[in-house]
Amino acid sequence: MVKIAPAVLMVDYGRLAEEIGAVEKEADLFQFDVMDGHFVPVISYGADLIRSLRPRTAVPFDVHLMVQYPERYITDFARAGSDYLTVHAEVCPHLDRTIRQIKETGVKAGVALNPSTPIEAVDPVIRDVDLILLLGVNPGFGGQPFLTEVEQKVTELRRRLDDLQIRCELEVDGGINLQNCVRIAKAGASILVVGSAVFQSPDPVAAIREMKRLVNP
Ligand code: DX5
Repeated sequence: MVKIAPAVLMVDYGRLAEEIGAVEKEADLFQFDVMDGHFVPVISYGADLIRSLRPRTAVPFDVHLMVQYPERYITDFARAGSDYLTVHAEVCPHLDRTIRQIKETGVKAGVALNPSTPIEAVDPVIRDVDLILLLGVNPGFGGQPFLTEVEQKVTELRRRLDDLQIRCELEVDGGINLQNCVRIAKAGASILVVGSAVFQSPDPVAAIREMKRLVNP
């Protein structure tokens, strides 16, 4: 089953609990876009938002750290109730150590790659991570078009994971919608992160149901 993770970015923050509540029956995970204004040119939110929402839903929280120094915040986000914590390989000179630091908190560990970063960047930790996230857009904003060249990275990474018999999640995030979701799922994604195509649609629940129907025929 390909899972759908609504991305908490392009939402009405004044009504966030209701927006999350409205789609929680359909969501397999919620992805939280944590941005620090350095690694990406936008500031979004911190661990307190995760901590506040945690008691409101049992849906797993997939926290994507788009921050310059993720090792400084791992303990706080783990204690806030994250189920997955994902760091970017581009800002982790000691990636193996950072992945271990996440796993020592008991939270599942993920590594993310920007569109221009080759998949070989995950090789040092490919057997240790629970999730590999391939960005389909340059991170920092929702509502951007999917960069079609990333589809080939999904195919290559899926082949590599299958050849090595590695069962971690292959997550794709950014620019996913009802028109391209089937192609990306067929390329090998096991989780699709979807922001504007869910929370900016007139009927977010129907949008998730339709995407699930398309990618899990
Ligand atoms: C972008 C974020 C994505 C984004 C997805 O930096 O990592 O999660 O919110 O939004 P859409 O689906 O609108 O591209």
